[in-house]
Amino acid sequence: MAAPDDRNRSLRALHLSSGLLIALFVVLHIANHLAMFAGQGAHIAAMESLRPLYRNPVAETLLMLALAFQLTSGLAMIWRTRRERRVGLAWWQAVSGAVLALFLLNHVGAVWGGRLLLGLDTNYHFAAAGFHAGYAAFFVPYYFLGVAALFVHAACALAWRMRGRAVPLAVGTLGIALAAGFVGVMASDPAIPPRYLESFP
Ligand code: HEM
Repeated sequence: MAAPDDRNRSLRALHLSSGLLIALFVVLHIANHLAMFAGQGAHIAAMESLRPLYRNPVAETLLMLALAFQLTSGLAMIWRTRRERRVGLAWWQAVSGAVLALFLLNHVGAVWGGRLLLGLDTNYHFAAAGFHAGYAAFFVPYYFLGVAALFVHAACALAWRMRGRAVPLAVGTLGIALAAGFVGVMASDPAIPPRYLESFP
């Protein structure tokens, strides 16, 4: 199966390489979120043990540069091919990429804002506070779509390269199930310290 658009060939190769670099962080990040199922204490302990790996100046600068490249290259590819009718896999890839880009702009902006402007420790409480501060109608679809889009986007990249569809389908389905699970845990655990809730208007 050939990818739909050859005009983006070199940009697509760079997008894939920077995506693989980002994936190193994302695998740790999603593994960290799996600890949510064992409670907020377990999630916070896992995050504290992982932070030295990704929150050091070298790793964090590389991650932010790769993210900036990923967002701009992805949006540029969608824009260049905007007049082409997308069907099937190409449609899912473009839509999941656009959703992921919107999620990441907001998510990473919120994490830096929480750290630098509000002086908060951006841990589990930070992630779950919005659910308990009256903004669940925003945060339920926000986190669900962010995680689901990540897995669907990765599944599309795999599907172009694999003959069978079983593995990509399993990756997409796993992501949608995890997204629902993460949202359920964050929405149902109300023990958030007041300083996190007070950061909402
Ligand atoms: C349930 C879903 C998610 C939750 C609850 C969540 C929560 C968090 C939290 C609490 C942090 C701060 C980490 C720290 O202070 O050490 C963070 C950072 C970050 N997250 Fe997420 N996240 C989620 C999904 C995602 C996804 C799907 C991606 C990427 C595709 C992502 C990318 C990032 C990035 C790039 C950072 C910044 C890391 C840094 O500051 O160096 N997150 N997230």
